[in-house]
Amino acid sequence: MAKQREHWGSRLGFIMATAGSAIGLGSLWRFPYVTGENGGGAFVLLYLIFTFLIGIPVFLGELIVGRTAQKSPVNAYSSLSNGSQWRMIGWLNIITNFLILSYYSVVSGWSVNYALMSLNHFTMGKTPEQIRSIFDILYKSSDMNLLFHFIFMALTAGVVYGGVRKGIEYWSKILTPALLVLLVGLFIFSVFLPGFPEAAKFILYPDFSKLGPNGILNALGMSFFTLSVGLGILVTYGSYMKPDEDIPKTGFIIGAVSVSVSLFAALMIFPIIFSFGFQPEEGPGLVFKTLPVLFAQLPGTLVLSTVFFTLFVFTALTSSISIIEVLVSNLMELFDWSRKKAVLVCASIAFILGVPTALSGSGGLFPQWKEMYQGDFFDTVNYITASWMMPLGGLLAAVFVGWRLDRQIAKAGFESGSSLKFLVKIWIFLLKWIAPIAVFIILLQQGGIIDFTKLF
Ligand code: PFF
Repeated sequence: MAKQREHWGSRLGFIMATAGSAIGLGSLWRFPYVTGENGGGAFVLLYLIFTFLIGIPVFLGELIVGRTAQKSPVNAYSSLSNGSQWRMIGWLNIITNFLILSYYSVVSGWSVNYALMSLNHFTMGKTPEQIRSIFDILYKSSDMNLLFHFIFMALTAGVVYGGVRKGIEYWSKILTPALLVLLVGLFIFSVFLPGFPEAAKFILYPDFSKLGPNGILNALGMSFFTLSVGLGILVTYGSYMKPDEDIPKTGFIIGAVSVSVSLFAALMIFPIIFSFGFQPEEGPGLVFKTLPVLFAQLPGTLVLSTVFFTLFVFTALTSSISIIEVLVSNLMELFDWSRKKAVLVCASIAFILGVPTALSGSGGLFPQWKEMYQGDFFDTVNYITASWMMPLGGLLAAVFVGWRLDRQIAKAGFESGSSLKFLVKIWIFLLKWIAPIAVFIILLQQGGIIDFTKLF
């Protein structure tokens, strides 16, 4: 007997779960440090343009594929194309999700560690420089990284074990708003730091001469990362939606929220960098090196820091559960597995895949990696998944909806229950032409295949 598909319990539940997936380490951890590495304002401007012209249209396309098919990615792409090879998009999504989950969990593990250290008042009596260096100690420790990677993966598996409504929806509704409130509060503190004007200029003034060598591709990847696009997450979440949900409105709300959180996070973190003499190019440890320095200056350090990092863990959790949910729902459908079996298998594979990442700072595995590739193992997985695999997944999703999917189905998906029906033509144009051409050009340029800057 076919199992009945679970659905979201309410519209708010769906929006919160999708916002919970969108708001995660991408905005809070990755956006600030990649902005720092890519020179600031010009990167931020490209990120905004890509989000609105490419990211959100693909976001809507993925949701529509899922809602129309009521299936997980592999079967959704297959059934909407009469069983053709388009299902390979779903398989690409599966591989990408496994890799992303494997290192997302390592980074989230750092957050669990920082929440526990905060409870122990780890900044007491330390100078900003000493606080900053704690991250480097953690990064180099193989057993600490493994332990917290394991703890976080177990947490993720535990929530998804409970199923869509009980697990994902319940927690997202409570924790997403709590984090947003705290973020705004912290932003206000940052505004009063002496480095704020310099930070605002760094982030908001676009100086294209400072854009890093991979800046354009990284900005595209960042936009997809923060929206969770190009991975089938939205196909999966869309498949739990009922037909009367307003997909375009949801897309704009979530796009706006994720962009705002990214900008708030950067505007909160860069004043600390410029006030305490740190470097914008600190790399993946940026958030962990800087925020505790701010907390140490504020009243109630222990409580503030503990609450912040605890919410940080929860926001990572509402995102990691969306990543694993794609894997679980696909495997349940494809192999007729129970949810529990699928969760255990997926979490175990992702844990094992994450081991080299967790050990990359200590050099415990692949010690020569750094000499042969740009960066350590962690950097490589992070770069390949976010800057190549996600844009590729997004490109294929855009081409599918723009060119292969029956036009009436695409239109009906956009318009059903929507108050923004008048945007349907623009959306189709962006998906059919702008998104594929732009992503394709960027991939060719960054792959060194054609140098478009020399053509003009
Ligand atoms: N969009 C979320 C974030 O920015 O953290 C979650 C996420 C999902 C990130 C999928 C990356 C990803 F590939």
